[in-house]
Amino acid sequence: MTKQEEIRRLKEEKDAVILAHYYVRPEVQELADYIGDSYYLSKKAVELPHRTIVFCGVSFMGESAKLLNPQKTVLMPDTRADCPMAHMVTRETVERARAQYEDLAVVCYINSTAEIKAWSDVCVTSANAVQIVKNLPNKNILFIPDRNLAHFVARQVPEKHFIYNEGFCPVHEHMKEQELRKLKEQHPEAKVLVHPECPGEILALADYIGSTSGIIDYAKNSPASTFIIGTESGVSYALQQAREDALFLFPETEPVCDGMKRITLDKIIDVLANGSNEMMLGDDRTNLAAEKALTRMIGRV
Ligand code: 13P
Ligand code: SF4
Repeated sequence: MTKQEEIRRLKEEKDAVILAHYYVRPEVQELADYIGDSYYLSKKAVELPHRTIVFCGVSFMGESAKLLNPQKTVLMPDTRADCPMAHMVTRETVERARAQYEDLAVVCYINSTAEIKAWSDVCVTSANAVQIVKNLPNKNILFIPDRNLAHFVARQVPEKHFIYNEGFCPVHEHMKEQELRKLKEQHPEAKVLVHPECPGEILALADYIGSTSGIIDYAKNSPASTFIIGTESGVSYALQQAREDALFLFPETEPVCDGMKRITLDKIIDVLANGSNEMMLGDDRTNLAAEKALTRMIGRV
């Protein structure tokens, strides 16, 4: 039996469904039941009837799925698959802003721990952040943890006052402007598609800025046939499937998310066979508050 056959057999036996983010290894995306960006995956986790979800992504993704579905079993193929940005804000930052601004909304990127979500009023993803912030009644916005996404949103919503936090994604933060400029010079006809976790100097080079799904949709519907991609290189699998005819170019220093790459077929087999690495939540009060921020996001888009 191949690994793929073994996973299919175990899925049926355990009434399990496999959700995967676009940054995981191609062989994992190939066998996943649903692949998507963070927003799509959190919605899918709620809609699907299966008793067990195998979440092929980093821990905040599995944790969000569990917060939204406490009655379901969420299995993580590798418990060490983490997103460093998900921890990059302190409680003091939030408390200081709350004390300073009476009408403050704390807007939390889904790339955050349950504890951080619990300090917040509403969650967002890169696919819905602009829309959600625009519709908030509050004038003052503390956007955590990602400073780059915060600045991107602030530019689209100039009527609000933003307070920033110094979190960032190491993969997008360290993308080299010079490498993208070089690709642009070599391929002047190419469209440049980038993720809003990139710093401003990278965003300034872009024809389109959006979530991983947004980038894939743009390429799917574009008349162009060469694209320079400013996000984690795992998206190349879905991009190439969407546009077999097109050329997708990535920066010379390949943007790789180590957490996402920890997920392998062997680890999926292991958690399905043994029911191991079940996502567990912390205390009830934190869960309730974090779930409220997540549900508010899903109800608003
Ligand atoms: P998306 O929601 O756009 O898929 O982004 C998730 C992420 O972690 C980007 O680094
Ligand atoms: Fe976190 Fe960056 Fe990896 Fe996305 S690419 S999961 S933001 S470390």
